[in-house]
Amino acid sequence: MLLIVSCTSQPEQPQEMDPHSNARPFEAVIEHLALDVKVDMEARRIEGTANYKIKGTGRIIFDTDGLEILSVTLGNGEAADHSLGDSTLLGRALEVKLPKGTDRVSIAYRTGDQAKALLWLSADQTIDGKQPFLFTQGQAILTRSWIPIQDSPGIRFTYEAKVSAPVGTMAVMSATNPQAMSPDGRYSFRMDQPVPAYLMALAVGDLAFEPLGERCGVYAEPGLLKRAAWEFADTERMLEVAETLYGPYRWERYDVLVLPASFPFGGMENPRLTFATPTILAGDRSLTALIAHEMAHSWSGNLVTNATWNDLWLNEGFTVYFENRICEAVYGEDYARMHALLGHQELQATIQRFSAENNAADTRLRLDLAGRNPDDGVSDIAYEKGFAFLRLIESKVGRPKFDAFIKEYFNTFAFQSMTTDRFLAYLDENLMKPNKVELNVAEWVDGEGLPANAVVPVSDRFTKVEAEVARWEAGTPASELMTADWTYHEWVHFLRHLPQPLGADRMAELDQAFKFTTSGNSEITFVWLDHAIANNYAVAYDRLVEFLTTVGRRKFVLPLYERLASTEKGMVMARAVYAKARGNYHAVTVRSVDDKLDWRSVSQPVAF
Ligand code: BES
Ligand code: ZN
Repeated sequence: MLLIVSCTSQPEQPQEMDPHSNARPFEAVIEHLALDVKVDMEARRIEGTANYKIKGTGRIIFDTDGLEILSVTLGNGEAADHSLGDSTLLGRALEVKLPKGTDRVSIAYRTGDQAKALLWLSADQTIDGKQPFLFTQGQAILTRSWIPIQDSPGIRFTYEAKVSAPVGTMAVMSATNPQAMSPDGRYSFRMDQPVPAYLMALAVGDLAFEPLGERCGVYAEPGLLKRAAWEFADTERMLEVAETLYGPYRWERYDVLVLPASFPFGGMENPRLTFATPTILAGDRSLTALIAHEMAHSWSGNLVTNATWNDLWLNEGFTVYFENRICEAVYGEDYARMHALLGHQELQATIQRFSAENNAADTRLRLDLAGRNPDDGVSDIAYEKGFAFLRLIESKVGRPKFDAFIKEYFNTFAFQSMTTDRFLAYLDENLMKPNKVELNVAEWVDGEGLPANAVVPVSDRFTKVEAEVARWEAGTPASELMTADWTYHEWVHFLRHLPQPLGADRMAELDQAFKFTTSGNSEITFVWLDHAIANNYAVAYDRLVEFLTTVGRRKFVLPLYERLASTEKGMVMARAVYAKARGNYHAVTVRSVDDKLDWRSVSQPVAF
């Protein structure tokens, strides 16, 4: 294998083949993208040119998925010899021949009807109902459905963009951003630090901006802006804490964009502008750990980036660890312990489920996703097992040494990609050996399940919650339980530890005492609705239907559909609700729910 040693600030060449990209960066690679596009809300299409500065010779291969390629020209204005490959899981490879001396290529293109990254919402699907809305979601391999690009996390490039949007809308990107609406709908952007394609992002809608501090601010639809600004008031402090832990924030501004509720994730760490679900606007700042999480990605992920999706734990495991440290500093140790323990419970449930599904291979930290949609490999494993592994190392060497190590790691590999092997070698050399620590690293990284030496988080406050559950089981009425100072973490722990099945009467007693059906906290609503389905608690069904038809966050809606689908009656309801809700979901959520509800066979009955 060719070893490329880099001693400049140029991004390094990828060190291994990415099974999820057709690009061949060893032959030719993009260095800079100048994008010039029009967002046509009516036709639901993005159309324009992607102009590339490239390095390499012979040919360059781009990823595309569902794009219509209109023309390809070289820097000298001549038409380029190009061809599109067959359609596979990875989309279609676009090969462009590079005559000697060519370092620029322009691709005129438009997006297709089913562009997977894009969700087009009509005005009535937004919060204010005034303007249509568009947002993109790039991770893991969706950016290729709205830009022809080398869509591998191991390939970084700088970009600039000109975006023409309808008058009355604001466009924002993972780049320098406007803070006010432009009168003509035209916007320009720059991202001067090299980023991988999955971090390219665009949103267009009726947006307004409110500052939260020196470097932080929030974008939202005007009707939501005040609420959002109140909820995220701790952002600037989080950023200061993060810098104190692991070194300077390298992206200048950190803003948050609150999207319509159909956003398929809780959050997405688009550089300079985190995209977030409005379901974290709980009204009491209780769900802001998500902001800490996406912010933490500004180091773990956006600065040091997983080389391929098999190494996702390097992004997510580090980020969950970092998120916890930010929360500990801002909200205290009790909070951080409860937060960690809820995550640990999710990890155990995931390991059990994967084992029951004969899918124990996906409980490994280092994944093998070749030939599969990388989205299918995303689970709590990368997040929580990754976190547990880092916690274990921390417990062996102590915090001061671990913190110094991580800080140095981010610094050393800033703007580079990282493979699991390379990280393990660095870990061994810089932390394990100097401190004479030996660990079952191979078992953690390539073994299944959770190794026995995992450090299980403990929380006194959760122990007290369990005592209240026991009192309730023993006959104390719900209204007399000692819940006065409980935070959302304790409520979720309570709900997860209720005996099952409960029956509709016991559910009603809890609901009367604690008003779960009308809770404004989406994490509580989610667990409660899950119980409501399992216990046939019909009182909550209106709320369930409302939740499923407004929220598109996959983490919530997928398990609820799955629970419904576990009975025949429930499946009928699930499909009826889904028929209404599906148009409100992003392709990421649609793909998963389609699968669960066997939607293709239902919506297109096979002819006899
Ligand atoms: N980068 C992820 C979202 C993601 C991961 C998208 C893999 C596609 C493939 C983001 O940072 C994330 O982890 N979001 C979580 C937030 C949470 C753990 C606080 C989410 O959306 O629930
Ligand atoms: Zn994340």
